[in-house]
Amino acid sequence: MAEKNQTIVICMGSSCFSRGNKKLVQMIQDYLKENHLEDEVILKGAHCMARCDKGPVMKVNDELVCNITEETLLDLLEQKLGLGSR
Ligand code: FES
Repeated sequence: MAEKNQTIVICMGSSCFSRGNKKLVQMIQDYLKENHLEDEVILKGAHCMARCDKGPVMKVNDELVCNITEETLLDLLEQKLGLGSR
């Protein structure tokens, strides 16, 4: 089985949650499932990351990503997870 070597930490603080992460977390789960990445990518929730003004936010492999929308999420995942060439 492939090792889990990438991590997404999504902010589940109330500001980010209500501004989109409630939906985005579901989209990420679906994306990982559809692309058979559940064994490679760890998805975790976190408390407020103290960047509410730039929310919704998440960290992909420790890099903070801000102002995520449903439109930008999938491109962002492909880019940050380096999966565009698959
Ligand atoms: S609620 Fe997400 S940064 Fe504060």
